[in-house]
Amino acid sequence: MSNPLPHTPLRLGIAGLGTVGASVINILHGKADVLAAELGRVITVAAVCAREPGKDRGLDLGNAFWFADPVEMAQSSEIDVFVELMGGAGNPAKAAVEAALNAGKSVITANKALLAAHGQSLAALAESKNVALLYEASAAGGIPVIKILREALAGNAVTKVSGILNGTCNYMLTRMEIENLDFATCLSEAQRLGYAEADPTADIGGFDTANKIAILTSLAFGTKIDVDAIYIEGIASITSLDIKMTDELGYRIKLLGVAERTPAGIEQRVHPTMVPKTSPLAQVMGVTNAVTIDADAVGQLTLIGPGAGGDATASAVIGDIAEVAKGLTGPVFRLPSTQLERAPRAAMQRHEGGYYVRLNVHDKKGAFAAIAARMAQMNISLESILQKGNKNTTKGTGLAIVSVPVILITHATTEAAIREALENISSDGVLDGSPQVIRIERG
Ligand code: HSE
Repeated sequence: MSNPLPHTPLRLGIAGLGTVGASVINILHGKADVLAAELGRVITVAAVCAREPGKDRGLDLGNAFWFADPVEMAQSSEIDVFVELMGGAGNPAKAAVEAALNAGKSVITANKALLAAHGQSLAALAESKNVALLYEASAAGGIPVIKILREALAGNAVTKVSGILNGTCNYMLTRMEIENLDFATCLSEAQRLGYAEADPTADIGGFDTANKIAILTSLAFGTKIDVDAIYIEGIASITSLDIKMTDELGYRIKLLGVAERTPAGIEQRVHPTMVPKTSPLAQVMGVTNAVTIDADAVGQLTLIGPGAGGDATASAVIGDIAEVAKGLTGPVFRLPSTQLERAPRAAMQRHEGGYYVRLNVHDKKGAFAAIAARMAQMNISLESILQKGNKNTTKGTGLAIVSVPVILITHATTEAAIREALENISSDGVLDGSPQVIRIERG
C-alpha cells in the first residue's frame, strides 16, 4: 500500500532564471514524483523572479507567481523557501536573502561572493530565526563538498583543504599544457569559446577561488569567514616555458585554493601551484573541479566533478532543497555562528614549502655564482638548477643584453627567505626582468 504524502507542498520562490535556475526548474519538474517519494513532500515552484520577465525561456512555470522585486518575493506568504540564484555580493541578493531570513524562511543560495562577504552575519540571522541557510552550490558546483565538510566529517580534525575550484583557470592551464599555447592566446581562445568571461578578472585573478576557499575554510576549521586573510595570486604570469619545465620536472601547474592548519596559524592562499603528476589533483583536467581534504580520522579524500554548468550546479541546489524538505536545520557553518572563532592567521611570509624560481640571468661571468651565494645566504638549499630554453636578447639604449632562463628548484624553505634572496639577487644586477616564483605542494 502506498502512503499518501502527509505534508503540504514545500513552496519555492526562485530568484534568477539563468542557466542554473532553468536547470533547477527542469529537474524539479522532470523528477517531481521521484522527489516527492524520496522526500515525503511535493516540491512546487510557487514563485519566480527574473530581470526580464517576458523572455521565453522554454520553461514550464505552471501557475508560479511572477515578482519583479526579489525582496518582495522573499517576504511573500506565497513561498516557504527562498532560492537565490542571482549572484553578486551586494544588493539585491543580500537584501533579498536578509528579507527571507527575517521573514522566517529558509534560504538556499549558490552565491559564493555573498557568503564570502556576509556569510557570518547571514548565518547569525538564520540561526536566530531557526531556519536553514544552505549553499552547497557556492563552492565546487556539483561536488557536495560542503555537506561532506559540515556533516560527513564531523568528528574529524581537518588539517588541510586544497582544491581546483575554478573551471576557467583549469581549462586554460590544461590547454596551455596540451597545445603549448601562451597565456594571451589561450585566454582569447577561452573567451571566444565561452569558457572565460569578457572580463576574466574574477577567474584568472584568483578572486573566485578565494571566495570559495573562504567558505571551505570556515567549514573545515570552525572559524569566521575572513576573505581579507587570503593571499591571492592569479594565473596571468604563467608562461608556456613554466608549463614545459614543470612538465619535465614531473609536475603540473594548477590554480589551487588552499586552507591549511600550520604551527603559525591557518594559511589561506590562492596561487598557481606545482603538484606532482602522480597526485590526484594533477589528474584533473579541463573545466573539472576537485577538492582534496586531509583529516585525522579519515585520512585523505579527493572529490572530483563538475564545478559549474546548469544541471551540475542545480544538482547541488536540489540537494539543499531536499535537506529543507526533510526539516533538517543546524549550524550554517561547522559551528553555530556565535562559536566560530577568528582564524589565527598565518602570514604568507611564514609559508613553508618548495619553490620553483625562474630567472632570466645575464649571460656573463659570475652571474650563477652570485645567485648561488644569495640563496646560501638565506639558508635556501637547492634541489636542482636547470638552464633551458633560448637566450633572450633585450635591446636597451644601444646595448644588447643577452640573458638565459634558469630554473631553480628549492628544498623546503620559507616565503620570507625566498623573497629576500630574490630581492638581493635582483639588486646584484644579474637579472633581466622580474623573477617568476611558483610554490610546490609535494604532499
Ligand atoms: N567562473 C567559475 C568557474 C564558475 O570558472 O569555475 C563557477 O563558480
